Amino acid sequence: MTDNNTLRFYEENAVDYARSTSGRSMDDVLVRFTKLVVSGGSVIDLGCGSGRDLSAMLGLGFRPVGLDLSRQLAVIAAKASACPVVVGDMTQAPFADCSFDAAWASASLLHLRPNELPLALAEVARILKPPGVFFSSVKAGQGSHRDTDGRLFSYYEEDEWRDRIESAGFAVLELRTGRRDRTRLGNDGWISCIAKRKGFSKEERK
Ligand SMILES: C[S@@+](CC[C@H](N)C(=O)[O-])C[C@H]1O[C@@H](n2cnc3c(N)ncnc32)[C@H](O)[C@@H]1O
Repeated sequence: MTDNNTLRFYEENAVDYARSTSGRSMDDVLVRFTKLVVSGGSVIDLGCGSGRDLSAMLGLGFRPVGLDLSRQLAVIAAKASACPVVVGDMTQAPFADCSFDAAWASASLLHLRPNELPLALAEVARILKPPGVFFSSVKAGQGSHRDTDGRLFSYYEEDEWRDRIESAGFAVLELRTGRRDRTRLGNDGWISCIAKRKGFSKEERK
């Protein structure tokens, strides 16, 4: 479960936070991701924030659903995107097994402590239909740190993120790390990963 200080930040600053992130473009990776998703498929956006990516996916003809722990952000995202948005925790996703064709987790899994991550990834695997497509992005680096807003972030190196995703039953299709700029506080570079859920057969679990 995401810690209280992090959640408090999103609850208390939802309007400003949504405004500050709604214009950020995820277009490049969104296009690469959606190319792998069955046309018109269902996509769960885990930690959907402002609803920016829900709107983009809806515009591309998919059926996106948002999940966010922050009630305030969920209201904003639902209004902005006209998509269904559920308030809930991705470590206990309130959805039945095999509910979605794809999952999108942009900058959200990084708010879990590393020991909570397997729980969330197991939930992603559970709610995806094989061969569900899964996008995740986290900050590149080491350890867990609070930013000046009090939000807790957990950082990963690229190989570590690959191991985490593969250990949860996914095959990694693409793994990229953006450039870090260590001269600017908080500009750590992003690891982005597109993976595919392995099936239930012995052959696919290899
Ligand atoms: C850094 S923001 C990213 C928002 C959006 N995905 C984006 O890329 O702009 C992290 C989001 O994850 C949500 N979040 C954090 N922990 C969560 C959890 N355990 N379950 C669901 N949502 C969570 C926060 O409320 C927030 O909206």
